[in-house]
Amino acid sequence: MKIILIGASGTIGRAIDAELAPRHEIVRVGRSGGDVRADIADPASIENLYAAVGAFDAVICASGKVTFGAFEDFTAGSFELGLRNKLMGQVNLVLLGMKHIRDGGSFTLTSGLLNDDPIREGVSAALTNGGIDGFVRGAAIALPRGLRINAVSPTVVEESLPAYGPYFRGYKAVPAAEVALGYARSVEGAQTGRVYRIGWSRDA
Ligand SMILES: NC(=O)c1ccc[n+]([C@@H]2O[C@H](COP(=O)([O-])OP(=O)(O)OC[C@H]3O[C@@H](n4cnc5c(N)ncnc54)[C@H](OP(=O)(O)O)[C@@H]3O)[C@@H](O)[C@H]2O)c1
Repeated sequence: MKIILIGASGTIGRAIDAELAPRHEIVRVGRSGGDVRADIADPASIENLYAAVGAFDAVICASGKVTFGAFEDFTAGSFELGLRNKLMGQVNLVLLGMKHIRDGGSFTLTSGLLNDDPIREGVSAALTNGGIDGFVRGAAIALPRGLRINAVSPTVVEESLPAYGPYFRGYKAVPAAEVALGYARSVEGAQTGRVYRIGWSRDA
């Protein structure tokens, strides 16, 4: 398969690359580097990405920013980054990508545990991740031509603990390589409308 991997240079993206590159052709995308540069927060840039790549079989997005911070300091603007970048960035990858992707192709988006297992600083992440999981379930039954869509919802990643550890005391982290398996299930399997929770469960 020819797979567009957005966020290929990131913590999770590098692990996805290592998992899938031995079996597939990977087009690595980032805002500041990669085979093709694109900004998921800019629909024109996404259009340019698809025009540059040509035909492809799968899109994986392992990118997306939100604002972390004390909720009492939040304004409406504090939600903008999550909505414009992580949520609508990924929605637009699907909206614009479904015109170009081959029949039977797949989209795999990234959310995260914070909408189900919240932390104090993560209100924007909770809103954004909930939107992504809901979008995936809704779009799965509406996509044409046998196209599939899933989300991967990881717990905190071991390699990210130096940055995120203080927010996640008491949480068990998982290696990025384990998170990458969720993307392989989505792209190489047959399921659609699934949210693959990696390293956590709703019962925890
Ligand atoms: N790490 C964790 O513990 C964890 C846990 C749960 C969920 N997640 C979610 O997983 C996703 C990836 O996390 P990560 O920790 O792997 O991120 P990361 O290490 O910061 O990497 C982000 C990647 O996305 C690219 N990127 C950034 N802004 C972009 C934009 N506007 N357009 C296109 N590409 C862009 C970056 O490349 P450039 O610098 O070249 O742009 C980089 O390759 C995020 O949605 C995050 O919320 C992460």
